[in-house]
Amino acid sequence: MEYIVIRGGKSLSGKIPISGAKNAALPLMAATLLTKQEMVLQNVPALDDIVSMENLLRGLGTEISGKLRIGGSTLKLISDDITDTEAPYELVRKMRASVLVLGPLLARFGNARVSLPGGCAIGNRPVDIHLSGLEQMGATIELKDGYIDAKVLRHKKLQGTHIAFPTVSVGATENLMMAATLAEGETELTNAAREPEIIDLANCLISMGAKIKGHGTDTINIEGVEKLNGVDHRVVSDRIEIGTYAIAACITGGSIDLTGCDGSFLKSLIDALRGSGALIDQYDWGLRVKGPTRPKAIDIMTDPYPGFPTDLQAQMMAYMTGVNGASMITETIFENRFMHVPELNRMGADINVHNSTALVRGVSKLKGAPVMATDLRASVSLVLAGLAAEGETIVSRIYHLDRGYENLVGKLNECGADIKRVRS
Ligand code: UD1
Repeated sequence: MEYIVIRGGKSLSGKIPISGAKNAALPLMAATLLTKQEMVLQNVPALDDIVSMENLLRGLGTEISGKLRIGGSTLKLISDDITDTEAPYELVRKMRASVLVLGPLLARFGNARVSLPGGCAIGNRPVDIHLSGLEQMGATIELKDGYIDAKVLRHKKLQGTHIAFPTVSVGATENLMMAATLAEGETELTNAAREPEIIDLANCLISMGAKIKGHGTDTINIEGVEKLNGVDHRVVSDRIEIGTYAIAACITGGSIDLTGCDGSFLKSLIDALRGSGALIDQYDWGLRVKGPTRPKAIDIMTDPYPGFPTDLQAQMMAYMTGVNGASMITETIFENRFMHVPELNRMGADINVHNSTALVRGVSKLKGAPVMATDLRASVSLVLAGLAAEGETIVSRIYHLDRGYENLVGKLNECGADIKRVRS
């Protein structure tokens, strides 16, 4: 078993190169299933979730070459000989984003069998919106033995239509947008998600020959085409990684240059950090973040993009535990995303949760402790807390971190953190 040991209290300074976005790379990889031709993806992060998607695609018959390594990898994916259209439980269970193969498989082959992802630590997370959208496009869907059995019987092809999403869903917008590229006629998605990762996916699909308009707004129009072509595409930078290290600079009162990234997608976080007293400058190479000496409390509420990202809520909470005053953090996306709270309280934080709101009263200093978390972003919030705490913090279950942070320990070390991975 591996864990992370941190001796806190060091102010971080230095440079951190930002990796490609996991949440952009995963749907982009699923989009290979829409074409027989080669897809080249650059700037793919070396993460366990990417390996899970590689395994899933290989199981379907996709040929993948290129090795994942730290610093941005190039993968070549060819899906001209898809031999299977089933995504088995063993792979889907590991990663919810596996459900993103459903739309592309159904659009190109007219059938797909994908295991239901089930619940997960941060909430129930159903896929009803994905399924209802595909049904509206003419798919017949049966839920049987824990699997989604989807077929296109009439007309043999998905049919373009108007789909009004009842809730903003990133995954459903991606699944339906991919499915609609090969459907017959025009599809309009309303109340669509507007996340930068969706814009990246749309841009890649357009380079493949798809006809998409309105991506980045809440109404996306897609005119189906006969086939899609190969593509060479660079994955956008990971705004959640940018945000996490920006908070690392703030929580340690340090100064970090985040390079190779675009901060324009992080306005809500930048506004919040500036509100706490941080100095943030944007350059063509990235962002410079200087943490405040006496940080102030600020309130945040998570929301779909361009609101404050739920994937940065836990990290922000770790920061708020040590500021002057009390802040209110409201989580509106997932119903069970405060699992870091008891762990932060064990480190001396003063946090009270009432339903979807947490009241965080700043304390003078956190104290190191052994901690563990049940999901990716909660785990990294404990690492951030450990960087600020007095004494030693031991974070276990670090496989969560390997799912979504490329070279976390190395990047923090480079900025002067006393942090190491230990194998017991
Ligand atoms: C994506 C991100 C995840 C992020 C989340 C919200 C990826 C791979 N993952 O997840 O990191 O935390 O967006 O920004 O990009 N919902 C339903 N029915 C559905 C689909 C969603 O009720 O069919 C609900 C969810 O339970 C949740 C909300 O809608 O409460 C938003 O979820 P969604 O945007 O779909 O998240 P994911 O795409 O799974």
